[in-house]
Amino acid sequence: MRLAIGSDHVGLELKPIIIDYLQELGHEVVDFGPYSGERADYPSYGKKVAEEVAAGKFDLGVLICGTGVGISIAANKVKGIRAVVCSEPYSAKLSRQHNNTNILAFGARVIGPELAKMIVKEWLEAEFEGGRHAKRVDMIKAMETGENS
Ligand code: RB5
Repeated sequence: MRLAIGSDHVGLELKPIIIDYLQELGHEVVDFGPYSGERADYPSYGKKVAEEVAAGKFDLGVLICGTGVGISIAANKVKGIRAVVCSEPYSAKLSRQHNNTNILAFGARVIGPELAKMIVKEWLEAEFEGGRHAKRVDMIKAMETGENS
């Protein structure tokens, strides 16, 4: 798959470990920054990766900040994005199968590299199941256009 990745300054140490792992799994990865250790505001990077994914330039996105919370909130402001923040693999897998998430976020201050790898692998290997779940995801999409307000 073609994957977009981004972080803030807190995610800078974990990000290259995850990029290497994703490449080992055979994915193409583009890093949207930051590239140095200066303080970097997570909304900018969450927005950038989310826009790339929403535009269809990438299949999925991965975001890392201190908790994964701020950067996932920012990503979810972009139309078409369903970002999930996960600290364990079960929710990551189900978020693909049931919610068709297209961005995975996690926190470098919350989980270590090995757990992060396990989470990202489960998430990437899971597939959206459609069916009754599609109707619910469509209801969320409709909220973006005001169709069900
Ligand atoms: C940065 O200090 C921190 O707020 C950020 O990495 C993230 O945890 C926000 O949700």
